[in-house]
Amino acid sequence: MRKKLKWIGIAFIVLVLAAQLYQPERSNPTVDESKTIYASLSVPPEIKAILERSCTDCHSHGTTWPWYSTIAPISWLTARDVKNGRSSMNLSTWRTYKKTRQANKLDQIFTEISEDKMPLKPYRLMHPSAALSKDEIDRICRWAEKERDRLTEPDSTGGK
Ligand code: HEC
Repeated sequence: MRKKLKWIGIAFIVLVLAAQLYQPERSNPTVDESKTIYASLSVPPEIKAILERSCTDCHSHGTTWPWYSTIAPISWLTARDVKNGRSSMNLSTWRTYKKTRQANKLDQIFTEISEDKMPLKPYRLMHPSAALSKDEIDRICRWAEKERDRLTEPDSTGGK
């Protein structure tokens, strides 16, 4: 019995070590400042601060990769969240979105935040300071609504 446990232990360690060989891509492509959300919409400093504190790790090219993001299997989960986060909404390439898409994303920000879906729960566990207060949720929602209205006005000049 003890011998069996020992072998299970060794097999587990070998597996964990082998898993480290599969390193997902963790890159931060260069940011063209003229294409960011800040260059496209009116983003007051306090809104920018919230976005950078709670969203840009997954929704921009400016991800801060923590040390544990190099260790499998956390590395796989982190890289997957960043990949999916960037592809669903990338604040670094915001200006490349058509105006209707930008307005749609602002609507989604409103919904995701007011339903307490973002930032993702596991992320909040590791980054307690990323959680949004009630007041911050209100401010982001009001800002998203205002910017969406500005984009959908017939004579609006923002975006594309
Ligand atoms: C840990 C990574 C992570 C963080 C941090 C994060 N998101 Fe997300 N977000 C995702 C992923 C992954 C998706 C893709 C859809 C999904 O899996 O839920 C997503 C999707 C979205 C979407 C698109 C939803 C849709 O309907 O397509 C919006 C909008 C969004 N996030 C807003 C935010 C905002 C605003 C913040 C900051 C308050 C934030 N997210 C923080 C990972 C993250």
